[in-house]
Amino acid sequence: MDKVLQLEGVSRRFGGLQALQDVSLSVGSGEILGLIGPNGAGKTTLVNVITGVHRASAGRVLFEGRDITRLAPYQTARIGLARTFQIVQPFPELSVLDNVAAAALFSKSGTSPAQARDAAAAHLQFVGLEKQASQPAASLTLAMRKRLELAKAMAMQPRLLFLDEVNAGLNSAEIEHAMLLIRQLAERGITIVLIEHLMKVVMNVCSRVVVLQNGALVADGSPQEVVNNPRVVEAYLGKKYAQLAAREGAA
Ligand SMILES: Nc1ncnc2c1ncn2[C@@H]1O[C@H](COP(=O)(O)OP(=O)(O)O)[C@@H](O)[C@H]1O
Ligand SMILES: [Mg+2]
Repeated sequence: MDKVLQLEGVSRRFGGLQALQDVSLSVGSGEILGLIGPNGAGKTTLVNVITGVHRASAGRVLFEGRDITRLAPYQTARIGLARTFQIVQPFPELSVLDNVAAAALFSKSGTSPAQARDAAAAHLQFVGLEKQASQPAASLTLAMRKRLELAKAMAMQPRLLFLDEVNAGLNSAEIEHAMLLIRQLAERGITIVLIEHLMKVVMNVCSRVVVLQNGALVADGSPQEVVNNPRVVEAYLGKKYAQLAAREGAA
């Protein structure tokens, strides 16, 4: 299996806080890798370090064999990495179509505005936002803004895509739709790293799962292996299911 992404001993510190500790990991071409762990574990920081938003304090990041450790976000975007943001941030005044077209324009030098708009229309169709194309992005519901994020990421024509909690706040029908889109993206040959709290989604779409806790990788395996790993149950799932049970008990 070709390796799309390799992390070698990646660490990141923020002042006195060790947000990532010696993370080594490879992601193979075509995988849908689940990245799970408690809040504050370092999941978003890992994506930020890989995409160049934050510099690694130590270690190396390789994309398709090339050292990208010191590249800036615009550079990692141009070579094929894209991500959605946990906090959705469209240009609110721009139309839905123009939000995606802006990403398409940015993705490749030499793209004309007309080509960018055509590509944007196709991506909106794919995520099911074609009817909202001319509305301002600010008018979209949360679920639609999440789909817009996905369309923007696709406009970057990525080979590696990070999805950061794209299902948070969605209802079950919206989550079903999002799972379908994620599988279809993978079928198009895009390697996916999925940061996800909903275990139902992780179990259904991921081919492999890694677990971060306090900035360190504590498990790596098939979804079944990971949910049955005592360390993961202790560090994350136990607490999560206990909270869920408590919430359902309270309802
Ligand atoms: N830019 C930053 N400056 C300082 N601390 C940060 C920054 N980004 C994240 N952190 C800290 O790093 C830790 C990991 O955060 P984060 O990667 O957002 O976790 P997760 O996405 O797993 O919930 C947290 O303690 C968080 O407060
Ligand atoms: Mg996060």
